[in-house]
Amino acid sequence: MGKVYVFDHPLIQHKTAMIRKADTSVKDFREMVREISMLMGYEATRNLPLEEVEIETPMCKTTMKMLQGEDIAIVPILRAGLGMVDGMLALVPNAKVGHVGLYRDPETHIPVEYYCKLPTDIAKRQVFVVDPMLATGGSAIAAIDFIKAKGAKDIIFMCLIASPEGIEALQKAHPDVDIFIAAKDEKLNENAYIIPGLGDAGDRLYGTK
Ligand code: PRP
Ligand code: URA
Repeated sequence: MGKVYVFDHPLIQHKTAMIRKADTSVKDFREMVREISMLMGYEATRNLPLEEVEIETPMCKTTMKMLQGEDIAIVPILRAGLGMVDGMLALVPNAKVGHVGLYRDPETHIPVEYYCKLPTDIAKRQVFVVDPMLATGGSAIAAIDFIKAKGAKDIIFMCLIASPEGIEALQKAHPDVDIFIAAKDEKLNENAYIIPGLGDAGDRLYGTK
């Protein structure tokens, strides 16, 4: 079973509380989503493989550990996942970025795919799938299904707010995927929104409501 990491760092807790507030502006919401993603990314990238590289300091030649080549992909689930990409890219600027477009049908809450474009060499990359919200888990499960269908084996899922139901569903569907979460919330409401949550992440990020 994949591991679930819920962050207890005070900066992450504070910023996650700030983005929940209904009166946080679109500009502040966007900036804080980026910051939280970067802080989470620092920990989520802890197990990236290193290799010994010979370098030359002003004093002598030496061998040091550096990240292995360009072996990372970040895959946001559109739309809201886009808000997490820049924070991750600040840490791993050479990562390739793929996109999976999904929206939840408002009646059934079942994800509908409208776009999928991934790096051609996704199969050999460590993939970070990012989306601020894990509610029923349907979108994350479907996105990871597509990514696995293209050959990816090494996948981490990162979100800001998750429901217990979403975590359970994702773990069941993809037991090999580790899940990094800024905050685990109480429950889903009758419309499959997370409570207390932050409302609709895409609308809050882009000001569309
Ligand atoms: C939101 C969110 C997730 C999904 C989570 O996207 O960004 O992708 O809902 O819900 P689930 O776990 O029940 O699938 P939404 O469908 O609202 O699309 P948007 O990002 O384009 O607004
Ligand atoms: N999608 C969101 O953006 N928010 C929720 O609470 C649930 C799904």
